[in-house]
Amino acid sequence: MELSQLYPGIYRLRIDDREHLATLNLAPGVSVYGERRIEVGGWEYRLWNPHRNKLAAALLRGLSPMPIAPGMRVLYLGTASGTNCSHVSDIVGVEGHVWGVEIAPRPMRDFLERVVRYRANVSPILGDARKPEGYSALVPLVDVVYADVAQPDQAAIVVRNAQLFLKSGGWVLMAIKSRSVDVTRPPEEVYEEQVGELKTSGFEVLEVVELEPYERDHAMALARYQG
Ligand SMILES: C[S@@+](CC[C@H](N)C(=O)[O-])C[C@H]1O[C@@H](n2cnc3c(N)ncnc32)[C@H](O)[C@@H]1O
Repeated sequence: MELSQLYPGIYRLRIDDREHLATLNLAPGVSVYGERRIEVGGWEYRLWNPHRNKLAAALLRGLSPMPIAPGMRVLYLGTASGTNCSHVSDIVGVEGHVWGVEIAPRPMRDFLERVVRYRANVSPILGDARKPEGYSALVPLVDVVYADVAQPDQAAIVVRNAQLFLKSGGWVLMAIKSRSVDVTRPPEEVYEEQVGELKTSGFEVLEVVELEPYERDHAMALARYQG
């Protein structure tokens, strides 16, 4: 077994000639979605499956720089049951914090049971990311807004949240599912349109990486907020 660091808080683990991404488990002994836990040098890591985690897929497809790092504050829109959000919690670690917004009660219940109860650096918010005023008293200025709500107006949702919560020079990571925006148009056209909305709202778009072969018709956009 060989361990190396890809980015602060993000590791590469070589097991039996296969490379895996991994994060240091902030809740040792607990898996969130059945992922393997591996002990190396007295520390427990969780394998980060790119077929189930779009951020891991984006890193393997070359996303750079990686704006989420230890100590950072992240507003996470669309946690679902917390699969990927739990890895973000691992990465920011005990000095950082994640505020996770989810509109649907059922996945929020799983998020509470599988993630929040074991992690002091995650605050759950049952709310609508289209109405960020509803949670403005709970969320401070953050370093990164991560968005994965899979809605056609996601870019507008990101802009609204960034205006309220993102510090100047802060980062946005936005997962784009082209079929959620428009099934009839080529994915590239949809990505272009979505990042275009960010650009006209004062974001500098640094990268758009397609997530094939891990996720079909998905991309991850990385943008910086100058607001
Ligand atoms: C693609 S899933 C998120 C997957 C998750 N980020 C992961 O990688 O583990 C999208 C989630 O966004 C939630 N969602 C959709 N619209 C929303 C809104 N307006 N506000 C908050 N959450 C929303 C959905 O209920 C769903 O759970």
